[in-house]
Amino acid sequence: MKRFYQYFLLIFALTLCVNIQAQAANNTLVVYYSFTGNVSAIVNALQQQFSADVIQIEPAEEGLDYAANNYALGSSLISAIRNNPNDASSYPAIKPVSVDLSRYDNIIVATPLWWSQMAAPMQTFLFHNGSEMAGKNIGLIVSSASSGISSVVTDAKRLIPGGNFLEPNLWIKSAQTSNAASLVSEWLAAINLPTSSNQETETMQINVGSYVFNATLEDNATASAFKELLPLTVTMNELNGNEKYHYLNTTLPTAADNPGTIQAGDIMLYGNNCIVVFYETFSTGYSYTRIGHISDTAQLKQALGTGNVAVNFSLPAVMGKKGDINNDGSVNVSDVTYLINIILGIISL
Ligand SMILES: Cc1cc2nc3c(=O)[nH]c(=O)nc-3n(C[C@H](O)[C@H](O)[C@H](O)COP(=O)(O)O)c2cc1C
Repeated sequence: MKRFYQYFLLIFALTLCVNIQAQAANNTLVVYYSFTGNVSAIVNALQQQFSADVIQIEPAEEGLDYAANNYALGSSLISAIRNNPNDASSYPAIKPVSVDLSRYDNIIVATPLWWSQMAAPMQTFLFHNGSEMAGKNIGLIVSSASSGISSVVTDAKRLIPGGNFLEPNLWIKSAQTSNAASLVSEWLAAINLPTSSNQETETMQINVGSYVFNATLEDNATASAFKELLPLTVTMNELNGNEKYHYLNTTLPTAADNPGTIQAGDIMLYGNNCIVVFYETFSTGYSYTRIGHISDTAQLKQALGTGNVAVNFSLPAVMGKKGDINNDGSVNVSDVTYLINIILGIISL
């Protein structure tokens, strides 16, 4: 009888293991198409702020210029779809896409606008896959030079019947692309994208005098190494009326690039040991590695003041998590191993 009981618990533990591994993936997919790079830049900004799987749609035929001869090719592709939207042959071929849509709760579709409609290659993808997106949360991001996006929204609703369209849609004009990071950040807050428990982003708390700010941490080696230093109180020096910086007495891993625009609230690493907290938004020619971002910056400038200032960085207190059987702060396969060891009597409670 005891053996049967152990066997039953073992099966239960293995089932739990499979579930934990399934949950470890993102529950949001971003599917995008970009011809001249604007939507790519927007998706890039999105990825800096939100953990999602990303797939790119590509036309089967490479090197086509949809904008040549006053957009002749793009125009004829859109006309073909407009004239016969239910016929598969109206849609231009795209490269095969391997994705299991059933894995995702949320799908963000990011597309350029062509002749007021959704760009043809994205329409092809949705024509073939949209029905599998029924019941899922759909976010729509559209880039156009100037035209309004209402017909693209209509296309999306036609091609994803049964999609649960999140409001509002995000319309970014080509000229606003350099500002994509803040537009995307506002949009993500507005749609309040439902996330699975594993999507909890790591956060850090920042205390400046009596002010308390919460920052999300990047999922990168630099942020992980910085976390190891916490809690940490440092004096940060004022620079240029837009940042406070502090040279650590240790170095952190780097993967620097030029962000183009610095956003107020960005927490960056300059070089390999200089922590910078920005309290203004501006264009930069310098390169940094991202550590995190303070999303609510309403009082940040006021808190940091005009001179040097003491800043405390800390991690939020770890609360007991559902499923964290071994109490190590995360829910993963080691919890299952721990459970199996209890069942087999290797660990006694
Ligand atoms: C074939 C084609 C048709 C377009 N038609 C329009 C249009 O009707 N109105 C508009 O505002 N922009 C139009 N555009 C401009 C794109 O929507 C805009 O440049 C967008 O930012 C491109 O995104 P991408 O760089 O990711 O390809 C068109 C672009 C192409 C290539």
